[in-house]
Amino acid sequence: MGEPSIPRHIAIVMDGNGRWATRRLLPRVAGHRQGVESLKRCIDACIARGVAVLTVFAFSSENWKRPADEVGGLFELLAKALAREVPRLHQSGVRLFFVGDRAGLSDKVAGGFGEAEALTAGNRKLTLNICFNYGGRWDIVQAAQGLAGRGEAITEASLRGSLSLSHVPDPDLLIRTGGEQRISNFLLWQCAYSELFFSDRLWPDFDEAALDAAITDYQRRERRFGSVPAPACVVGAS
Ligand code: FPP
Repeated sequence: MGEPSIPRHIAIVMDGNGRWATRRLLPRVAGHRQGVESLKRCIDACIARGVAVLTVFAFSSENWKRPADEVGGLFELLAKALAREVPRLHQSGVRLFFVGDRAGLSDKVAGGFGEAEALTAGNRKLTLNICFNYGGRWDIVQAAQGLAGRGEAITEASLRGSLSLSHVPDPDLLIRTGGEQRISNFLLWQCAYSELFFSDRLWPDFDEAALDAAITDYQRRERRFGSVPAPACVVGAS
């Protein structure tokens, strides 16, 4: 028997930052700050384990409903994290993609995304998709509208090719931290056959050992993609 396979693409709903902070009597944005540290640790761990693609949910289309100071804090955090971390990610061979509706973002933020993508375009160690102002329903609608606008037929293949993650294979493993067991409008199309793993750890506490536990659990799953189990070995068969 060969080595158990490492998931090629891991997607993560990084939930629990707010509760992590509240339990420490800190403002929620302190939890997001710690969330960035946890994300850095997770990126390094994915590179070390040979994961090819990591996709994370950083800001959903619905997160605008949060208090203005939290939204502002998240954008400030993003700007600082980009300035500080993009050179380091580039050095580590990470290719960055920012996935989501840029129309809702300022020119400064959208410009920063474009610059980071251009700088890291030649990297191949890990593809990191940061979903920002993203929603799975938004993605399907924009893909369908694009096809309709160009007068192209809507088929499974054409729709897939118009989605904002068409540059990577679908996730093998979707992890959600923070104890909730739902998808929350993340990768609705792409997770059709992903293995789901729910962790009670809050995102800032999700460390290498927790990632390994998720990967080990994934390796025990039998993936059938709608088919039947592989036939058992028949004794005496030629
Ligand atoms: C969910 O926790 C987390 C978010 C809405 C933001 C996730 C963002 C980060 C981890 C920061 C990294 C992103 C970048 C690049 C800036 P929550 O606030 O819903 O937690 P709760 O469920 O405990 O309230």
